[in-house]
Amino acid sequence: QDIENKTAMVYQATASAPVNIACIKYWGKRDTKLILPTNSSLSVTLSQDHLRSTTTSRADPSFSKDRLWLNGKEEEIVAPGRLATCIAELKKLRKELVEDKDESAPKVIADSILPLFALLKMIIQLSTVPVHIASFNNFPTAAGLASSASGFAALVSSLAALYALPCSPSTLSLIARQGSGSACRSLFGGYVAWEQGVLDDGSDSLAVEVAPRSHWPEMHALICVVSDDKKGTSSTSGMQRTVQTSELLQHRIKHVVPKRMKEIEAAIKAKDFDAFAKVTMADSNQFHAVALDTEPPIFYMNDVSRSIIALIVEYNRVAIEKTGKRKAAYTYDAGPNAVIYTLQENVKEIVELIVKYFPQKDGFKDPFQLFAGGSVGEGRVVEGFNEAVAKKFEVGAVKGLIHTNVGDGPRVLGAEEALLGPDGLPK
Ligand code: DP6
Repeated sequence: QDIENKTAMVYQATASAPVNIACIKYWGKRDTKLILPTNSSLSVTLSQDHLRSTTTSRADPSFSKDRLWLNGKEEEIVAPGRLATCIAELKKLRKELVEDKDESAPKVIADSILPLFALLKMIIQLSTVPVHIASFNNFPTAAGLASSASGFAALVSSLAALYALPCSPSTLSLIARQGSGSACRSLFGGYVAWEQGVLDDGSDSLAVEVAPRSHWPEMHALICVVSDDKKGTSSTSGMQRTVQTSELLQHRIKHVVPKRMKEIEAAIKAKDFDAFAKVTMADSNQFHAVALDTEPPIFYMNDVSRSIIALIVEYNRVAIEKTGKRKAAYTYDAGPNAVIYTLQENVKEIVELIVKYFPQKDGFKDPFQLFAGGSVGEGRVVEGFNEAVAKKFEVGAVKGLIHTNVGDGPRVLGAEEALLGPDGLPK
């Protein structure tokens, strides 16, 4: 939105974007510069009411260069790095799709660059003006939650709003992908596939909506934030080592993922949670198997992660005995945190189960009021549950539980949410 300023128009826009957690994992690039994957992937977008990145972008001819602040700290924009690429691609779209097409597109009045003609004003195109970008994640980086996906999606969404780009989310996903692969999936809400594509220029490697949030709004997620002191292997370097050394990855790419993409899309369309859970857990397991098959091997899960798997497996065993169907699905990214997908009706039971084995110091922040009027207490297990499948851990092994649900795609926000002050610096 353009907001009126005493002297001139201010070209500024603010947008927020969601986190997504993959059910079919992206792991491996066939092109590291364009970020083209070796297989397609699929994720659920999580609600921005709980987890989000917010970004404000402003174009101003008085700025000397493009600058970016992440959580208040300035980050270097180095060409041809990922940030510089995304910003350059969006400026290019502004020029090609707006300025070259429409002579009346808003332009910027700037002071002359020649000191002698200081009083002369120049009229220049917005795409040539430097931008300041401020981005903020409402969840602590220390929580170990991937912030690059929501971060790049918010950056692309705010610049797209600033430049009034007439682009679909899929087109914008082509740019977010070049910031961080998984970011392309955060351009949509609901259930999202990243189609790997076959072209060398990457123009068909983009995100598409499999189903909107409203199709299956009962999908909830419980994130178990697992304490982790050691610095792990980053996704970017880890996945390239897997590409270079794992034979199992080649089998996964050719024979496993194509079949699973079809299965999970069918499960989502039919709202078949049992099938969704089966494929999601199998794919998390295989992703961690290819990490282990890497030379030298990569371990992302720890004892706490594995115990949570044991609890969910036992919880599902009891459910299958009673109803023939699974009720929960675990999945793990490149770290020890568990994300448990389940339908709304089961969340309370699962919170009580996790809390029984992983006592919480600060209680459970209960955004959906599951325990309204009472507290989560000591936790408990469902009838028929074999308590011996895991040992009880100390307080702090799981340092937090975040309850959220499937959510919508990026949002353009009002000027009151802006992260840049009148001076063009972070507030
Ligand atoms: C395990 O998207 O963080 O979360 O493209 O190098 O930035 P880059 O990697 P990134 O990798 C995410 C890997 C994953 C699986 C997934 O989200 O699909």
